[in-house]
Amino acid sequence: MAKEQQIDITTTAEALAKEFKEHSVAEFFKKNRQMLGLYGKIRSLTTIIHEYVTNSLDACEEANILPEIEIKIDELGPEYYEVTVKDNGPGLTKEVVGKAFGQLLAGTKFHRLMQMRGQQGIGAAGCTMFSQMTTGKPVKVISGTGNGKCFAVEISIDAKTNQPKLSNYKEFKRNFRGVAVRAKFKEVLYKESEQSPLEYIRRTAIANPHVTIKFTDPSGKKHIFKRTSNKIPKKPKAVKPHPKGVTVDDVLSYARSTKAQKVISFLKNDFDRMGAKALEEISKKVNFDLNKDPRSLTWEEAEQIVKAFRETDFLAPSTDTLSPIGEEQIKKSFQTIVKPEFLSVVSRKPKVYAGGFAFQVEVGIGVGGEAGRTLANGEKKAEIMRFANKVPLLFDAGSCAITKAVQSVDWKRYGLKDFENSPVTVFVSLVSVYVPYTGAGKQAVADIDEIVEEIKLALMDSGRRTSRYLAALRKEREKQMRREAFMKYIPEVSSALAKITKVKEDKLKKKLEKLVLDKLKLEELEEKIEKARAEARGKEVKSNAKESN
Ligand SMILES: Nc1ncnc2c1ncn2[C@@H]1O[C@H](COP(=O)(O)OP(=O)(O)O)[C@@H](O)[C@H]1O
Ligand SMILES: [Mg+2]
Repeated sequence: MAKEQQIDITTTAEALAKEFKEHSVAEFFKKNRQMLGLYGKIRSLTTIIHEYVTNSLDACEEANILPEIEIKIDELGPEYYEVTVKDNGPGLTKEVVGKAFGQLLAGTKFHRLMQMRGQQGIGAAGCTMFSQMTTGKPVKVISGTGNGKCFAVEISIDAKTNQPKLSNYKEFKRNFRGVAVRAKFKEVLYKESEQSPLEYIRRTAIANPHVTIKFTDPSGKKHIFKRTSNKIPKKPKAVKPHPKGVTVDDVLSYARSTKAQKVISFLKNDFDRMGAKALEEISKKVNFDLNKDPRSLTWEEAEQIVKAFRETDFLAPSTDTLSPIGEEQIKKSFQTIVKPEFLSVVSRKPKVYAGGFAFQVEVGIGVGGEAGRTLANGEKKAEIMRFANKVPLLFDAGSCAITKAVQSVDWKRYGLKDFENSPVTVFVSLVSVYVPYTGAGKQAVADIDEIVEEIKLALMDSGRRTSRYLAALRKEREKQMRREAFMKYIPEVSSALAKITKVKEDKLKKKLEKLVLDKLKLEELEEKIEKARAEARGKEVKSNAKESN
C-alpha cells in the first residue's frame, strides 16, 4: 500500500515568500557560464578568443575596413593566461565602452535582423565576468578613433545590478584607430588541438579571406595568416522581419518600439515585402480599426494580424541582405591554407527557412595534398569544417545540422569509399540573417529541414565534381602501375634476347620501352574512341526519344 503523503506544515506560503528573491542576468550567467561556452579549460580559452575576434570582425565589416587583428596569449602561471586582442576597426566611444565590455545583453546587434557574427550581446561582457570570477581583476581596454586621441580604461561588472564599473580612465595622444582589449583568465589552458585557439584562428582565416591575423602563442611563436583577398565583403544589410516568419509575441514587441503612429503604417513600414495589395487583404481579415495606435494592440488583435499574415501571399523574403564568402574567395584561401591536390567549391543561391529567414550555403571539398586531419602517427582522417556567419564552429559537432547533412551524403557514390579515413576536407559555410543556433554558446546549428537539405544538395553537387577527378586520378595511377610493371621486366628480357639474337642489349631495351609506351598509348586511344562512341550512342538514344515524343 502506498504511504500516505506527509504535508510539511512548517513551510507556509508566507515562509516561502520570505525566500522570494530576484537576481540579475549577470548573476544568472555567473552561475551558468557553460551556456556561454565558458567551461572546460581548452574550450574556455578558445571561446574567449572567439568572442573578441568576432567582435573585431563585425565592427570592421560594418565600417568597411579591411581587418588586421593581432592576438597574443601569454602564460602567466599554471592554467593562468593573459589574452590581448587588437583590431583596426572603428573603435568605441567612452560613452559606450563600459556597456560593451561590462554589461550583459547589451550591444548594437541583437535588435537588428542582420547577418552578423554577434547576436545577443553577451560575448565581450561574458569574458569580463569570467576574468573577474577567476582572477578578481578587471579587463583593460584601449580605444581610439584615429584622430590622435585615445583612452584607456579598466572595466568590471557589478554582478548584482549588471552595470559596468569603470576605473583608471586615462586619455592620451596616439594615432590609433580600433579597440585593444587585455584580460587575464585562470582555469584555462593553451594546448594545440583541433579545438585550440590556433585552429580557430586558422579556420577564421579560411572563411574570411580578406582578414590578416597575426597570432603569438604562449611559446612566443608567431603565426601569420595574411589576407588572400583585398576585397571587403559586401556589407550585410539589416532586413525587416518577413510576415511569414513572425509570432504574435514578435508583433507585439515590434509594435511597442515602432515609430509609426497607426497600425496600418506600422504594418507597411516595419515588415519586409508588405505591398498595398497585401495590406488591403489584411485589413479585410481583421475586425478592428487599423488606424489605432500600435502600442495599444491587444494580444487578440496581434493574433488576428499573424493569422492574416499566414493567409496572405507575400513575395519570398529579400535575400540581397546576405553577404556570402564567394566561390573565388573560398578557392583562394582554401588553396593557400588547406593546400589540397584537388578542390571543388559550390556556392548555392540564397534560400529561406521557416518562411521568414534568408540563408545561403557554400561548400568546398578538398582532396589529397594536405587536405584532411593528420594524426600524430601520420595517418589521414576526414576533416569537417563548419562555419556559421563566417565563424568557425569547433565544438558540439554531434548535435549540429551541418554534421548531420555531411553524414547523410553517400560518399561512396562520389568515389570516397572510406570517407572517415580519407584525406579530405569538407568545408560548409552557412550565412543567415538569423542563424538558428542550438544554444547561447553558438556552436551548433539547429536541425532545420530546409537548411539540412540545402547543405546536402550543395555537397552532392560538389561531390559529383570530386568523383570525376578521383576517377581520372585512379585511371592515371593504374596506367602508371602497368607501365612500371612492364618496365620492370625490360632489363631481364632484353638481356635474354640479346644473348639469343646477338643484337645489342641497349638497342633491344630502347625498342622494348617504345613498344610498352606505344601499347599504353594505343589502349588510351581505344578507350577514347569507345567513350566517343558511347557518347554518340547516348545522343542518338536521346534524339530518338525526342522524335518519339
Ligand atoms: N572590437 C570592437 N569594436 C567595436 N565595437 C565593439 C567591439 N567589441 C565589442 N563592441 C561593441 O560591443 C557590443 C557588445 O559585444 P558583445 O557582448 O560581444 O555582443 P554582440 O557581439 O553579440 O553584440 C557589440 O554589439 C559592439 O557594439
Ligand atoms: Mg560579440
